[in-house]
Amino acid sequence: MQKITNPLVVGNWKMNPQSIEVAIRLARDIKKKIVRISSVDVVIAPPAVYLGGIREALGKNTQPMLGAQNAHPEKLGAHTGEISLPMLKNFNVGYVIIGHSERRAEGETDDMVNKKVHATIKNELTAIVCVGERLRDHSAHYLNHIELQIRSACAGLSKAKLNQLVVAYEPIWAIGTGNNATPADVHEMRLFIEKVLSDIYGRTYAAKVRILYGGSVNPKNAYALMKEGMVDGFLVGGASLHADDFYEITKATLV
Ligand code: PGA
Repeated sequence: MQKITNPLVVGNWKMNPQSIEVAIRLARDIKKKIVRISSVDVVIAPPAVYLGGIREALGKNTQPMLGAQNAHPEKLGAHTGEISLPMLKNFNVGYVIIGHSERRAEGETDDMVNKKVHATIKNELTAIVCVGERLRDHSAHYLNHIELQIRSACAGLSKAKLNQLVVAYEPIWAIGTGNNATPADVHEMRLFIEKVLSDIYGRTYAAKVRILYGGSVNPKNAYALMKEGMVDGFLVGGASLHADDFYEITKATLV
């Protein structure tokens, strides 16, 4: 079952673009385009150093909303190079991407992901937890991997907080490769993630979690991934750096 809430489209800009001027221009272009769409929640997650400039350029309480690509679970202190959730809140950041495979590859563990989920939710932001397998094996061990990632990310999280949780299924083999998962694969994984969450929390509460797909989403494949994959939206990397493409993807969620 897709959700009755708005679809959610999140642009993960990763470590792009190179200048604040280009970042602001991109954010403004996206705002201009998506202003016509009110029934989709749109989030852009630029590098943290651009959040202030972009917030100023866009104004408050506007679409796109702002997201962060990471956050430290502590409020402040001796954590060189890190950024805390209260700091992000200065810029009205509403969402935090947690456990992206590119961060896990740099050493982020399931335990760190869990701590960040708790801290994000405690700070009244929405946690977008990324899960995904490196490869698909014929005996479907990858499903166990996904289940473990979800269970450890949610460990200790009460069902009352599930409306602040989003799960993004991002198979690593599909990220930045041009090889998106098929709509059938995505649908199967959506059902599987829903089942794992239902086993933990029961169906009614599990249904509050929006489930996204990410991995080479583009304007050509977005419609089928949404309609047949039956996801609640997308986490978009490369295509989110082009306002036109990002807009087309956003529109495709209105199926
Ligand atoms: P991609 O990245 O859309 O460029 O494949 C997705 C992501 O990493 O979130």
